[in-house]
Amino acid sequence: MKGFIPEDKIAEILHAVSIIDVISEYVSLKKVGRNHSALCPFHSEKTPSFTVSEEKQIFHCFGCGFGGNVFSFLMRYHNISFPEAVQDLAKRYGIVIPTKRMSPGERRKFEERENILKINRLASEYFYNILLHASEGQNGREYLKKRGISREIIDRFTLGYADGSWNSLVQFLSKKKTPLSLVEKAGLIVKKRGGYYDRFRERIVFPILDVCQNVIGFGGRVLDQSLPKYLNSPDTPVYNKSRSLYGIHSAKSFCRTTDSVFVAEGYFDFLALNCHGIDNVVATLGTALTREHIRILKGYAGTAVLVFDSDEAGIKAAQRSLPLFTEEKMEVRILVLPEGHDPDTFVFEYGREGFVKLTEESLGAIPFLMSYFIAKHGLSIEGKARIIDDLKTSISALDGVKRSLYVKELAERLNIEESVVLEQVRKATSKDHKKKDAEDRKTGIFADYKIEKGILQMMVQFPPIVPYITKERIVEDFENPVLKKIGQLILQVFRDTGEVIVSDIIARIDDHKHKSLMSSLFLDEQIWDRGKCFKRIDQFRRGVNKRRGKILSQKIKEAQKANDYNLLMSLVKEKNHESRVSRDL
Ligand code: UTP
Ligand code: MN
Repeated sequence: MKGFIPEDKIAEILHAVSIIDVISEYVSLKKVGRNHSALCPFHSEKTPSFTVSEEKQIFHCFGCGFGGNVFSFLMRYHNISFPEAVQDLAKRYGIVIPTKRMSPGERRKFEERENILKINRLASEYFYNILLHASEGQNGREYLKKRGISREIIDRFTLGYADGSWNSLVQFLSKKKTPLSLVEKAGLIVKKRGGYYDRFRERIVFPILDVCQNVIGFGGRVLDQSLPKYLNSPDTPVYNKSRSLYGIHSAKSFCRTTDSVFVAEGYFDFLALNCHGIDNVVATLGTALTREHIRILKGYAGTAVLVFDSDEAGIKAAQRSLPLFTEEKMEVRILVLPEGHDPDTFVFEYGREGFVKLTEESLGAIPFLMSYFIAKHGLSIEGKARIIDDLKTSISALDGVKRSLYVKELAERLNIEESVVLEQVRKATSKDHKKKDAEDRKTGIFADYKIEKGILQMMVQFPPIVPYITKERIVEDFENPVLKKIGQLILQVFRDTGEVIVSDIIARIDDHKHKSLMSSLFLDEQIWDRGKCFKRIDQFRRGVNKRRGKILSQKIKEAQKANDYNLLMSLVKEKNHESRVSRDL
């Protein structure tokens, strides 16, 4: 997975960065004792259990169990790969990663992405300049004015204009010696026999930026009734609409202060809300809301408010995304606009106050769906049956407490027995739940092995004990393979460097669950001295011997059954030796 980035470079980056600096760009950290803490960006919570240690350069959330080093944070936060996280930090801290160490394929891909981002940036500036200064931009300027978009908003979102010519962008970029095949890959121009033509023509252009302010794609709207109304970048090496949200680069800080984010469906809805000082908004880009979208959003806000024109499509969208919000543990509310409005027309007619008032009236997803289906099906016997049918899956997806409260509420509103509703909801869940339970059990593998964990902790928190542990080959006897692997890694790092630096060790582990396990272990501050270490090690040895004894007894039984006298003798000898050793301990 990490392949091409040399380990010394990774260590260099880890030593150059401060995890506090990096994380505090995204999360507001408060110093508490030796650590910093915050509300976890990876799950929704009311009291902070996300902990960052400056000294150890690691973080851990004691609520959701996720943790690791600065790379783990960036990977999860931006949904990027390990090499991308490394590159990102290296760039910020001016560390050069020798690209020649990448495989040729990886290097080509990396450079291509960088170049496409550069091209997008150039194109965005080009469109912006046409909109503001060129005579060809006149129509665009008038259109935006007509739609109430101020100059300040144009600047803030570097809106632009693509003129009517078939090749002005082609020419502009050719003059800059940009390879057109790459511009095509960026989705900005289209190949035709013998040449290329501009994809966006006679359209207002909306550059789409990611959280790091890279221009990753574009949308374009016609100025009249012609079709298609909107044109968007195709998926490219840097753009994927189901992982991108329009406006996230600007919204993120406002989302953090308000702990909420409005999710609209259109470019102009987004801009209109921003025009009215509502700036914790993003817009989807012509797709339904995906799990990736929610994961990005919950890094910035606890609650998403989905803004819909009140039609069936909005309801369907709400219903579809509900289980995703539940699974991702993000609060969701539904804001319904009056008939015939979208956020754009609404906010220009009723202003910021009108919108804020609607927000206050917005409903949680289930109450919203309940009211909707009650209104739709009516309270006849048939109607009630349909209502339960339409709601059972959504309710079943909820966590325990909420589920039982909504079952109760639905039963009351329909005036039927709670047990009847409950039964239907249960039927809808059983399958999903069994799967989840099995997963929980699997992740529970780390619940035990307290002693082995203790030994790992002492190696990190009291390094003078490491030479002893090496000499006595303690780690070799670990029963849990994951803890053993981590132990071996610590020994290796100590051998190589004479130190035990937690973030370096975490960097060498690929699996996220294992990284999280380590961060939780090492943030759990224990005070060790030699005596305490030896006591724990002895305890461990007794356990090992007991285990061995059991295995030996089992083997002896088998040898007896098989009448294998030689084997039996050697086993008994071994067993006597073992018990002598344990007595000596
Ligand atoms: P709408 O048709 O609701 O348009 O599309 P709108 O946002 O209200 O735009 P105005 O107010 O008429 O200018 C909502 C979103 O769906 C995507 C765009 O992202 C648009 O903002 N869309 C729509 C497309 O991708 N292609 C289309 O042809 C139409
Ligand atoms: Mn509109």
